[in-house]
Parts: sequence; C-alpha cells; structure tokens
Amino acid sequence: MRRQVPFDKRIVDETIEQLGVPPVKCSIREQKRLVDLLEKKLGVEYIRMEFGIPGLKTDKTAVDAEMEALSGGVISSQYPPFDGNPALKKATADFVKKFLGIQVTPECCVPTVGAMQGGFLAQAVVGRMDAQRPVILFLDPGFPVNKIQNRFLGLKSDAIDFYNKRGSVLVDAVESRFQKGDIGGILYSNPNNPTWITFSEDELKGLGEVMTRYDGIAIEDLAYFGMDFREGYEKPDLPPYPPTIARYTDNYILLISSSKIFSYAGQRIGLAVLSPKLFRWESESLEPFFLTKNAAYAFIHGGIYCTTAGVPQGPQRGLTALLEKANQGDWDYLDVLKTYQDNARLMKKVFLENGFQIVYHEMDGTLRDGFYFTYTYPGLGSNALAREELYYGFSGLSLEKTGAVDAQGFRACVSKVSKDDVETLNYRLQRFHEDHG
Ligand SMILES: Cc1ncc(COP(=O)(O)O)c(C=O)c1O
Repeated sequence: MRRQVPFDKRIVDETIEQLGVPPVKCSIREQKRLVDLLEKKLGVEYIRMEFGIPGLKTDKTAVDAEMEALSGGVISSQYPPFDGNPALKKATADFVKKFLGIQVTPECCVPTVGAMQGGFLAQAVVGRMDAQRPVILFLDPGFPVNKIQNRFLGLKSDAIDFYNKRGSVLVDAVESRFQKGDIGGILYSNPNNPTWITFSEDELKGLGEVMTRYDGIAIEDLAYFGMDFREGYEKPDLPPYPPTIARYTDNYILLISSSKIFSYAGQRIGLAVLSPKLFRWESESLEPFFLTKNAAYAFIHGGIYCTTAGVPQGPQRGLTALLEKANQGDWDYLDVLKTYQDNARLMKKVFLENGFQIVYHEMDGTLRDGFYFTYTYPGLGSNALAREELYYGFSGLSLEKTGAVDAQGFRACVSKVSKDDVETLNYRLQRFHEDHG
C-alpha cells in the first residue's frame, strides 16, 4: 500500500535534531546518514537523489581482464610503474584521440586513484607553479571535495558562480580575477556536477586564451566524459567531440574518471592527461615541494609516488581492456548510460509539472538530460525546502555545499531512481505542491 505523505514530521524533526546539522548544511555523507536513519525510523523508502553514485554494473570486460591478470599471481606481487602501465598509457592516448579529438603521447597519460587523486595532485602542482599565485579559481557550483583538497594542501581558493555569468561574461569575470595576480589556475567540471550545464566551445576558447595570456593552468574535470547524450559522441574518430579547453590552450590537465562512464567506481581508477607543455614547463617554485622543477614530473614523481605510488595492477588491467574495447569502435560504451538520460527526462518532467523549477540551465534556457539536475520550489528558500522535502519523502543535496552563492536550490542525482520510483516521486511531489502551492 502506498505510504501517505507528509510523513510524521515530529520524527523527522527529532532525527534532524539528533544529528545536529540542519539539512541545508548537510554534506553528501551527512545527508545520506540522515536519510538512512529516517528510512529506518519511519519504515519508508525515500526517493534518494542526494548521492552521485553509478547505478549500473561494470562491463564484464573489465572484471574478466582483472581476474585473468591476477590469476597468474605475478602482477599482484609487483609494484606498478607509478606513471602507469605502458598498455594503459597507450590505450588512454588512443581514447583521447578517438573520442576527444586531442593528440597527446602516451607519456602524457597517467592513471590515478580516481579522478579524486587527479584533482588533488593537479591542484598541488597548479597551486605551486608560482609562489605568488597559490589561488585555485573554482567555476562554481562544483564538486565539494575539490575545495576540501585545496584546504588540505594549504592552498587558497576563490570562486565564481556561473549562475548569472555565462558566455563572454564568464570569460571576462575569470580574466579580471586573473588580473589581481594571485591565481595559478582554474578548476571546473564539464559536464558540470552538480548542474549538468556544459561550457560551450566559445566559453572554453575564451577561458583557454585567458590561461595562455596569464600562464594559468586549467584543471578540466571530465568525470562525466561524453555523457552529454544529445550530441552523439559515441563514434570514434568522428566529430562531434565533447567540448574541451585542450583545443584552445596548451596549459591544461584533463581528469577522466572511470567511475561513471564505465561504472567502475569501486576499483578507484581515473586518468590524468597532462598537456605536452607541462613536460617542458619548469618552475623554481615547485622544487621545495616536489624536488623537481618540472611540472609533469612534479605530478608524477613528486605527487603520485609519495601518495599512492601508482594505481593497483588489477584496475589498470581492467581499464586498459575497457579503453581498448571502446577504441576498436564496435562497442558503444555510452549506450548503456542512456538510462540516466531517460531517468532525468522523466524526473524533470514530474518536478516541473508540480511547480518546481530548474535552477541552472544553459544560456538558451534548456538543460540536457543527464546524471544531475538542480531544482527549487518558488517561494520556499533552501532552508525550508531542505526540511520540507524530507517530510514528503525525497532527498536532494543542498547547493550551498557545492559553492552556489548566486542561486539557491538542490542537486538531484538520477542514478538511483528507477522508472517505478518515478511514479512514487510524482505522487509525493503532487502532494507537496498541493500543500505549498
Ligand atoms: C566532478 C567530479 N569529479 C571527480 C569525481 C570523483 O571521481 P572518481 O570516482 O574517479 O574519483 C566525481 C565523483 O562524483 C565528480 O562528480
């Protein structure tokens, strides 16, 4: 039988008190803990949209490759090269050429323990290229962990919320911030977590030119590589290619995660693609931290070596197999992910039909259907909505945690919501709208 909403508000309020963090201030993990507890106490299932985790299984190719490699007992006894196995480096360079249209040598391609480690080390290097420029400029909202990494590294950060700043306005805002002279580089994800907007070729061209003019380095987080499904990025060696700043400047570090595109999050492997220029770029400021003046060697020898000393052999073999399979051209690796697109379409429809609004869209007012979207309910501030949505059985992540300052609202991740759940979501949003409209 369908559970009526709102749920028992007294129990929801008590549980919030017990955890001691107002829902609007909850980090992803705090929100998950809160909703886990509510589900237990109330005996209900929430529509869980707060966590950005893959909802699909890993392709068997990776699992078989790992098992085969490990079964001989040899690779598990050997340290991996800390700049990555040659086969993986080559498969990555081929992948980037075929699916991004960017030419780099295998040397430039370095596996990391998730894009997480890539973001950590990229900031460590970019923030220390010049002692006078330790600030990483975030294009926000963004992936909250990157700012925690920034603090952990003892660097500084500043941010520009792109809510009201797109196109040349965004590029100008970034350039004028560079003019203060303390910015080492920028960091953003594209498609963006949490809003799912995608910076356009024109924006990336403008930003790339700023990087070149001011010797800044762009850390471009492609954790959702190719997952802008409307464009047809699945064909190797054929345009269109996903937008990237690497087309417009030589000053870049690209981060590619296997977690979402290959649903391979558990094995903790990602890829950093360092621009060829970083292998020639020397700076005295790096030496005290990395014992080398060279930017790429700082990342690899000064960074990877002293943090994880490489990526485990099994995941390297698994990811190599996946990339090689995609590179051969007869496997559309993006096809299975289209379930996220379908979910987003259905979920956005029921949100919009029930009085909610999308917060961040593209410059033309549209938003592609993908892993995330953002929502708000007119007339209810984020603080109130954060609590009210828990009464009505759905849970997103407050944008406050992602650096949104110009806009209020919530991030919804679509990956854990099944088509059957959408019916329940619709009922709960209808009730919500009846009671608040
Ligand atoms: C924008 C962004 N970057 C990086 C990551 C982390 O990726 P990985 O699992 O490869 O460490 C995530 C994961 O959610 C993400 O959303």
